[in-house]
Amino acid sequence: MAKELKTIAVLTSGGDAPGMNAAIRAVVRTGLARGLKVKGIKKGYMGLLNEEIIDMESRSVSEILQRGGTILGTARCLEFKTKEGQQKGAEVCRKHGIDGVVVIGGDGSYRGAQALSRLGINTIGLPGTIDLDIACTDYTIGFDTAVNTAMQAIDKVKDTSSSHERCSIIEVMGRNAGYIALWCGVANGAEDILLPEKYDFNEQSIINNIISNRKRGKTHHIIINAEGIGHSTSMARRIEAATGIETRATILGYMQRGGSPTCKDRFYASIMGAYAVDILMGGKTNRVVGYRDGKFVDYDIEEALNMTKSIDEYQWEVAHLL
Ligand code: ADP
Ligand code: F6P
Repeated sequence: MAKELKTIAVLTSGGDAPGMNAAIRAVVRTGLARGLKVKGIKKGYMGLLNEEIIDMESRSVSEILQRGGTILGTARCLEFKTKEGQQKGAEVCRKHGIDGVVVIGGDGSYRGAQALSRLGINTIGLPGTIDLDIACTDYTIGFDTAVNTAMQAIDKVKDTSSSHERCSIIEVMGRNAGYIALWCGVANGAEDILLPEKYDFNEQSIINNIISNRKRGKTHHIIINAEGIGHSTSMARRIEAATGIETRATILGYMQRGGSPTCKDRFYASIMGAYAVDILMGGKTNRVVGYRDGKFVDYDIEEALNMTKSIDEYQWEVAHLL
């Protein structure tokens, strides 16, 4: 299988994440350096089905390291969840001489990669999501940038919140996972951190906390609320009514997904992109690349999808303590 590999392709799928461009660049340049032809598939699996496929040269990925988003574009494609869609995708790969695909995305995107692999196209997944919610890896492309963007925004909200002696509920992204909320909660010194994995919906205890902090002379009260809990605006109204303290909700939203990637995201994404090509060259397929215990590793996609992870208990305890 390894000897036959001549042409590989790269695509980004699901939500974009800062650092995806560094991964694309590394796939392209490592592939070319190893003597392969490299193609770019635009707009994820949708672009594959529509044959939006372009040749990638070294210059195609110049000046993209510092850019947020993904130069290939991304999409969610329902058709690719069907057997017919997957078969068409594999046929399109064969038509374009593509025998290996690097898929940068999350768990859903790996399901697509797994389907292609079963249909004879070698596939490797890279973890691209700001949510850090991929179980087989301690690192996902984009999380570091997103969490730094959110942290800086929260610092700003905190300034105005203190000046007005207000309570602020700041909602951060993460889908059903609370990693962005936990990290910002600690990094921004929030008074309360609400994570979907931990929240008991006991709003009264938050209200009591706000009142006792105000009695002790605190001028602000920052609550970091995860998107997986949501309802920040109505929560703010209820808290203001119960405490008599002006309360505002700020939903940070998509700004967390954009912007120039941090050094960490550029570096890790670059190594992972190269790693994906090298394991494809080594004859591997149906694998997902991760970073665990200080090393870049790869797992069978099914094994990776069956793994679970949750908020670290010690980190959660420390978040409370501080
Ligand atoms: P993420 O990759 O970030 O988890 P999604 O769950 O939206 O994001 O998945 C991205 C894309 O991957 C979907 O739009 C679809 O094209 C493809 N995909 C998701 N689930 C499957 C599946 N079960 N089988 C095949 N393809 C899938
Ligand atoms: O997975 C990244 C993410 O930004 C999540 O944090 C969020 O829940 C979701 O994507 C939003 O997706 P969409 O771009 O489809 O609105």
